[in-house]
Amino acid sequence: MQARGNVAEPANLTFRRSFGSHLRRRPAGARRTIAGPPVMPPRPQKKYLLAPGPTPVPEEVLLAMAAPTIHHRTPEFEAVVADIRRDLQKVWQTEQDVLVLAASGTGAMEASVVNLLSPGDTALVVNAGKFGERWTKICKSYGIAVEEIVVEWGQAVDPAAIEKALRSRPEIRAVLLQGSETSTTVIHPIAEIAKLTSATETLLVVDGITSVGVADMPMDRLGIDVLLSGSQKAFMLPPGLAFVALSERAWKATERATSPRFYFDLRRERDNQRKNTTAYTPAINLMYGLRKALEMMLSEGLEALFARHAKLARATRAGAQALGLRLVAPSAPSPSATGVYVPDGVSGGDLQKYLRYGLGIEVAGGQDHLKGKILRLAHLGHVGPFDVVIGLAALELGLVHFGVDVPLGRGVGAAQAVFAEELPSLPKA
Ligand SMILES: Cc1ncc(COP(=O)(O)O)c(C=O)c1O
Repeated sequence: MQARGNVAEPANLTFRRSFGSHLRRRPAGARRTIAGPPVMPPRPQKKYLLAPGPTPVPEEVLLAMAAPTIHHRTPEFEAVVADIRRDLQKVWQTEQDVLVLAASGTGAMEASVVNLLSPGDTALVVNAGKFGERWTKICKSYGIAVEEIVVEWGQAVDPAAIEKALRSRPEIRAVLLQGSETSTTVIHPIAEIAKLTSATETLLVVDGITSVGVADMPMDRLGIDVLLSGSQKAFMLPPGLAFVALSERAWKATERATSPRFYFDLRRERDNQRKNTTAYTPAINLMYGLRKALEMMLSEGLEALFARHAKLARATRAGAQALGLRLVAPSAPSPSATGVYVPDGVSGGDLQKYLRYGLGIEVAGGQDHLKGKILRLAHLGHVGPFDVVIGLAALELGLVHFGVDVPLGRGVGAAQAVFAEELPSLPKA
């Protein structure tokens, strides 16, 4: 598919530039003048957050977080922690403690590395995108040797490659990978990989930042040793909380690991959280929101939650393909976000900016060599069929704006056809 015309600058971008001109520095010696804003801003545009994090925060959660901040060393706050601990175990499908840290998701990644591994240990990292690469960077910062399985972007790791590495390098202490590699919108075959690691001494560490609460990843049943996540994804919260759970054998590994750690010493955190408190000051209001978000996730039910995400993903793929767009991860697409290549002749960066400032739709672009070439439409957390419809409708308009010959409504219609397969019936009064 070719773009018809030149890449035009969206009207709103032009406006933003002139509006921002009053922020320019005054030349040295110039007199100070009091100027009003040069242009009245237009009516604020309605915004839609359709990027793979932060994701939309439901009103119920926003309201829960608006409650007054109380002191955390009180029975009232301990009751909040107790509810959260119980419900996180249900979402993780584990008997283990799921610890809550005041950090972004990367904090839980770093905590996993420093609590399990020691300088000089060898870790096997699946590097299938930006976040796989992050495992390597964290390990190297702590003097941990890394053996990488480099996977072509858009592909999932082949478990046979992990099996081969584990056979030839028995000293590998842990396999580190993502459940869903958000940068390429791929899902990795965690159940198959867990079978391999469970049969060895090697620990399996899964970054579930865009897979916990999205895809069925029962920690105990599969034999995952570390499963971590972050608040701004399926948990429908602003960024600021990270979650991590360890298996029995992972807890044993924390006893022998000698990497330096203080804030992220998970043993200290576990001792505190078992008493329904935290080692340090918790992100109190985010925890109120978390309690509400978990209640919402569990009242939907895990099975329904996973089925909803799977269907939203399938509808998004159907819509994109109906528009003639190529999927970034056709063979192992993630249920959390869908990556699509933009048509030849269109700049992904310009299209993303047009969707943001022209239409009010926030989607993600590509990273590294995919920068400017792909867009990623997310469908995780507080999202439903009409978010998918809005995203695809905006994409169609965006493509038309850049001169691509797409029939309006074709992508939307293909997504609707997926939703029409099983329409909800009217709830009984
Ligand atoms: C799979 C994955 N891992 C790690 C991260 C990093 O998380 P954070 O930005 O919360 O530190 C992200 C963020 O998008 C992610 O999607």
